[in-house]
Amino acid sequence: LPQGEELVKAILELKKEKNAIILAHYYQTSDIQDIADFLGDSLQLARQARDTDADMIVFCGVHFMAEAAKILNPTKKVVLPDLKAGCSLADGCSGEGLRAMRAKHPGAMIATYINCNAETKAESDIIVTSSNAEVIINSLPKDVPLIFAPDKNLGKYLMKKTGREMILWDGACIVHEAFSMERIAQQMAENPDAKLIAHPESETPVLDLAHFIGSTSALLNYVEKDDCQKFIVATEEGILHEMRKRAPEKELIPALVFDESCNCSECFYMKMNTMEKLYLCMKYEIPEITMDEELRLKALVPIEKMLEMST
Ligand code: 13P
Ligand code: SF4
Repeated sequence: LPQGEELVKAILELKKEKNAIILAHYYQTSDIQDIADFLGDSLQLARQARDTDADMIVFCGVHFMAEAAKILNPTKKVVLPDLKAGCSLADGCSGEGLRAMRAKHPGAMIATYINCNAETKAESDIIVTSSNAEVIINSLPKDVPLIFAPDKNLGKYLMKKTGREMILWDGACIVHEAFSMERIAQQMAENPDAKLIAHPESETPVLDLAHFIGSTSALLNYVEKDDCQKFIVATEEGILHEMRKRAPEKELIPALVFDESCNCSECFYMKMNTMEKLYLCMKYEIPEITMDEELRLKALVPIEKMLEMST
């Protein structure tokens, strides 16, 4: 296997040879972010996947993201460096589970976070991401009960922001749930000139302390534009790479987690993708995302609704 600079060169050559596009999420390792054609949040990545005319979409993110790319652009080959790159939110909410929830609440609408698998999407009325959830929830009919799945933390945050009652699925992101409110409060006391910024997948006590809450792209924009020079960042540590690039003069402090033996929060799933696996998946065009066409068409409906409703 080529290493270092040779590996980078080999990936770029494969990209040209196979007319491929590399899409990467902000939680990927720095080397993957640097080699990507496009870096973005879940919504931006879905749009890029839909609109590309490359022959192969190389998705450096987690499985549900690559699956969404396939749903939106089925004639392209979609590969993911590690098929086991899952997500605790997606793993905890099956299509069958959502069907049972609908049966328990007849007449309810189901709004589902994009962090879920195709079967779950297929059972949903509309999909949201952390970038567009508030706007979408606000524009849904007010006279029907609303189920929100699978992230209860994002759900609680949205209830507070929109004033709308929702029936919540009991799921969470293991990465954002690991942030410790007590330790972060201590960090804030030690850095009174810093602002706390947090992703809405974090738990309510952490969000209650935050000066700003937003999706990965919103957090990046905030750090870049805000006058403050110091930020405590409560989201997956991969984002710090792009934050440092966009705001090199600012001080960024990773928010602390419960486990005192580690000083930042990493998504084990996102980090399953490596440069070596990226090279291999491009060379051999596996693992490939494939999907039953009937399921794809069902899952496409709520995703398209979301795209129509987001700016
Ligand atoms: P966004 O990048 O859309 O904010 O989502 C964060 C996330 O957890 C992706 O897994
Ligand atoms: Fe899933 Fe959380 Fe990892 Fe995002 S950070 S992929 S929500 S486990």
